[in-house]
Amino acid sequence: MFFAQVLTLFPEFFDSPLSCSIPKRAIADGAVSVDCIQIRDFATGKHQNVDDAPYGGGPGMLMKVEPVVAAIAEARKRQPNTHVVMLTPTGNKFTQAKALEYIEKDSVTLLCGRYEGFDERIVDYVDEELSLGDYVLSGGEPAAMCVLDAMIRLLPDVLGSPESAVLDSFTEDGMLDWPHYTRPEVFDGKAVPKVLLSGDHAKIQAWREEQARLRSLKRKASK
Ligand code: ADE
Repeated sequence: MFFAQVLTLFPEFFDSPLSCSIPKRAIADGAVSVDCIQIRDFATGKHQNVDDAPYGGGPGMLMKVEPVVAAIAEARKRQPNTHVVMLTPTGNKFTQAKALEYIEKDSVTLLCGRYEGFDERIVDYVDEELSLGDYVLSGGEPAAMCVLDAMIRLLPDVLGSPESAVLDSFTEDGMLDWPHYTRPEVFDGKAVPKVLLSGDHAKIQAWREEQARLRSLKRKASK
């Protein structure tokens, strides 16, 4: 079993996506467990504050170092080999290769922040800083959910067909997947490419590989 942990102020954020479709089945089948740890439980003081104003001034509030570091310590106590990943727009870019790398570990812990970010000293207590992309989310939770989903579907026996994960976009050489079609044969005057109806598997495979190559080139050119 793969052990995922999430450090968050909003554990309820994960209830709905983890109770649908592939993640739901993966959890029910025991391929993965996802445990949320509430960062606020590690806050001390009367108001259990988890955020504070930045030194030097500026807008917004920052996640405080003490409760976050205490929550990370709890995550490491529960899963001593866990790889702790901080979600932040300034981190390394998340990729399919990263998802494949993470599922080789015993456990991954995803640290989600709110407000304007984290006290920089927290970085010394995590193993990696990770960004979903070059945009700013209102918190790490949506990013953590994407990372969880990308990992879960790659775990052994989670997808219906073992070929599905292998044939995904990006799995081989960063190549994009080819286009797919299902019924009807014609929609709004747009017909399914003839070759797919030919029954000639070698020809179909050659067409698919060419389409994947063209798509990948086109995407690269538009970057
Ligand atoms: N938190 C806020 N924005 C984020 C992003 N783009 N990736 C990861 N974590 C984030």
